[in-house]
Amino acid sequence: MSRLRYLTAGESHGPGLTAILDGCPAGLRVDVSAIDAELGRRQSGYGRGERQSIEQDRVRVLGGVRHGRTTGAPLALFVPNRDAANWGDVLAVEAPSAGVPGPERVDVPRPGHADLGGALLYELDDIRDVIERASARETAAKVACGAVVKALLSEIGARVVSHVVAIGGVEATRGMSLDDVDRVEASPVRCRDQGAGRRMIAAIDAAAEAGDTVGGVVEMLVFGYPPGVGSYVQGDLRLRSRLARAVLSVPAIVGVEFGVGFEAAARPGSQVHDPIVHDADEGYGRQSNRAGGIEGGISTGAPIVLRAAMKPISTLREPLGSVEMGTHRPVASRFERSDVCAVPAAGIVLEAVVALELADAALERFGGATAGDLAAAVEAYRRRIRER
Ligand SMILES: Cc1cc2nc3c(=O)[nH]c(=O)nc-3n(C[C@H](O)[C@H](O)[C@H](O)COP(=O)(O)O)c2cc1C
Repeated sequence: MSRLRYLTAGESHGPGLTAILDGCPAGLRVDVSAIDAELGRRQSGYGRGERQSIEQDRVRVLGGVRHGRTTGAPLALFVPNRDAANWGDVLAVEAPSAGVPGPERVDVPRPGHADLGGALLYELDDIRDVIERASARETAAKVACGAVVKALLSEIGARVVSHVVAIGGVEATRGMSLDDVDRVEASPVRCRDQGAGRRMIAAIDAAAEAGDTVGGVVEMLVFGYPPGVGSYVQGDLRLRSRLARAVLSVPAIVGVEFGVGFEAAARPGSQVHDPIVHDADEGYGRQSNRAGGIEGGISTGAPIVLRAAMKPISTLREPLGSVEMGTHRPVASRFERSDVCAVPAAGIVLEAVVALELADAALERFGGATAGDLAAAVEAYRRRIRER
């Protein structure tokens, strides 16, 4: 049973995004400027569209926090959409008055989007209803929740970081340490390797020039996460299965791998598994971390390493073919203001969903009505297994 749950609501051009984060222990420091900083990170990155210059996301905390600390009550977070002002009555809650025409209907579904599936599923006459909720604008709410739980993870000594290791077929070296964080954050494509970063920017420029888009790969690393979280006893408790589900909940993410990942399928076992060692001070450990910090569904205490593949942005300036709904007439797809590459931004969203999943798994495992309880239980367990 999940201890920590979150739900989001809201449309891309409505008043804003709302998130309810339930199950957060009391006594956790909440710094609104730290949440805003995470929202700002999500909006940055080379290859983003005009929307990001309109929005300067700021969170409003509407519940669950008092005098800078969580109270144990659900948190209510609201991220207003500045762009809503430019959309007039298009998303009005009230039906148009009698005799007043409603906004222009969208009836051409865009390939690679939820447009066609959503319009058929919910029997919608106007694809605008799908576009508004399926838009990745929703990920701002995920990032706001993620920012809160990153503070909880830091109470137990854990930190989630990410960097971009591929864009548009240009690859960079995998692996990073906490010392690399500033370098990654200073890169417009969040790439640790400056040369590869420049080539990634050139790939984005070339795609933009051609009216096309590019995808890529984000690597996430979680340092300091406690051992003993997750389990092999049921499939849904396995930490890899939990993280994979969280990562694949992010729009446009089409693949996930852990540790050496897909390469493991081609290597002999001796070059995939990690020899077990013991140190008098540190207790049990592994000589290498090719497993990516999880064995048998349980965290080992080594850094958790996973990568997510993002498909190229679906909205193309040179549109693919589509069909007008109703008439079934073949037409070119619509172009709606869009990013050329959102891989750097996806990294921030991925950090958030990974942080939320790992915080939930740690709370399930160690419990705690307060952040202090959780930290004490984690510390006690670390001590206990060091002595075994
Ligand atoms: C941070 C982020 C930004 C995105 N920006 C855009 C965008 O500007 N244009 C677009 O067509 N898709 C964008 N996407 C991807 C779409 O939301 C996604 O491909 C679409 O909703 C269809 O869902 P699916 O790819 O999961 O099938 C973005 C995704 C993320 C994570």
